[in-house]
Amino acid sequence: MCGIIGIKGNNATEKAFFGLKILEYRGYDSWGVAYPSNNGFSVTKKVGHISNSEPFSSGSNIAIGHTRWATHGNVSEKNAHPHLSMDGKIALVHNGIVENFAEIKKSLIEKGFIFKSDTDSEVIVNLIQEKMKSENSFEEAVRKSLLEIEGSFAIVAVHLGDDKLVCARNGSPLVLGFGDSYFVASDATAFIGETKKVYFLNDNEMVVISLEPKVFDISSGKEISFETKELTWNFEQAQKGQYPHFMLKEISEQSKTLNLAVEQPKEKLDELTSLLKSSEKIFLIGCGTSYHACIAGSYFFSNAGLHVETVLASEFQRVENFLNEKTLIVALSQSGETADLLCAIKSAKKKGAKIASIVNVMDSSLMRISDVSLLMNAGPEICVLSTKSYTSQLAILLLLAYSIAGKANEAKQLVKETASKIELLISSSESEMESLAEKLADKKNIFIIGRGEAFPAALESALKIKEVSYIHAEGFAGAELKHGTIALIEEGTPAIVLCTPETRAEVLSNAIEMKSRGALIIGVDSKEHSEFDFNIIVPNCGNADIISLAIPIQLLAYYLALKKGLDPDKPRNLAKSVTVK
Ligand code: M6R
Repeated sequence: MCGIIGIKGNNATEKAFFGLKILEYRGYDSWGVAYPSNNGFSVTKKVGHISNSEPFSSGSNIAIGHTRWATHGNVSEKNAHPHLSMDGKIALVHNGIVENFAEIKKSLIEKGFIFKSDTDSEVIVNLIQEKMKSENSFEEAVRKSLLEIEGSFAIVAVHLGDDKLVCARNGSPLVLGFGDSYFVASDATAFIGETKKVYFLNDNEMVVISLEPKVFDISSGKEISFETKELTWNFEQAQKGQYPHFMLKEISEQSKTLNLAVEQPKEKLDELTSLLKSSEKIFLIGCGTSYHACIAGSYFFSNAGLHVETVLASEFQRVENFLNEKTLIVALSQSGETADLLCAIKSAKKKGAKIASIVNVMDSSLMRISDVSLLMNAGPEICVLSTKSYTSQLAILLLLAYSIAGKANEAKQLVKETASKIELLISSSESEMESLAEKLADKKNIFIIGRGEAFPAALESALKIKEVSYIHAEGFAGAELKHGTIALIEEGTPAIVLCTPETRAEVLSNAIEMKSRGALIIGVDSKEHSEFDFNIIVPNCGNADIISLAIPIQLLAYYLALKKGLDPDKPRNLAKSVTVK
């Protein structure tokens, strides 16, 4: 939700522009760049995608930028960041939500401030202007302002005449980069082409980038020491390369990423396995796609003789009374920054629960709050849709389930075999899915059913189709049809039926029930069935069948978006990393 960037060094504006293009996956309804010039700040703001705009240079050695996912205030130039203070001397970009913005705004208005936007962020920049009256430095005015802010923030601020950037974090991600220039951004991919030497800010830290960056504790104002580290991702991984879209690139990478997912450090895998075995209660939590992987995980664990409960992270309060020191929470997240998830984890921690995570982004908030983490090793996932991170989550959950039974090596073998079958499946099913998309592109509804592990696969398939093609899609357990949804089946309604060898007989009966009522049946199975109007053949992957079921539907969703003239990487109203509750 919103990407922010700040540069101190040569060609700052061009670098800010370039970084914002990479950060655009975090929000893309509008964007803006500001830099100090002779006559105050020069500010460019536009509604729409920054990727459609040409970069410009300014000669300034300081620039800040923002790409927005609207929260407070509609999508418009006036609400786009950077925001200037009323006196025009401070420019600021913000990611997060100021919960007490209404009361601060009221008190600033009483002091004579006039606001130009409807955003909560403009409140911060005007509060800093107000504090400048009593504080003897810009950084102190920023720090004192932040002490009054309730909610989450990552900010970068500049004051005219002060050759420095002041940035801070509380609840929203921010990382410093040390190269020929200094960088600060919501995500290191924004500057990974320039440097891999980074420092991930902790909550309640502020950085002043003047001659060299200094880190301070926001509450006490005391300087704190920090250590940089080297990123393992590289620039090429964050580029589309030969692919027309990140979505297709990331779908195609899955044979590689599956192999990497099961290459876990032995001591970490053992640590989590023994926590799983020794905990009295276990909850698997996540949001969106990650939640669907949690449901699949509960089935894998159940096969290994371990009962776990799956809970949507946003509904976690419901189980909080059952948490104690003997509880283990296993949190799944690609970004590691999802607000609903972090909120659940923080309250579980307060109750003494142990936190384990399966996460893609190294040093993300989730990883840092966890007692033990397994990294997905999937590389940057830029498309808003989770594809490779989903199958990596499934692979790691399978590894854990097998590991409980002392068979981690068997899981690795299974996933590696699946990965090589997937490679063939991706290349062989692309054109088939493209022509199926042609047939389905004008449909209003698509229903998807599955039983057993194909049930979470059905939920995930529906999410993929609806978020990228805007076709209403609903996934449910095959047996649930007769409990209501079958009322919606009419002549020509597409119904996708996901089969596994164990559930085939029962789900075929459900398919026939729909066909008798006129549904167009699209079956996904390792063998053909005459009951299906369209057969999609996937390889038999044994206990990893849920992985092969995902592939054709990811491709179908991609081609549905293309057939409808939509951008699969940036579906409307969405952002990759959902950092608001
Ligand atoms: O980064 P996370 O895995 O925590 O994200 C959770 C969801 O926001 C995410 O899976 C979302 O549902 C995707 N758009 C699905 O494709």
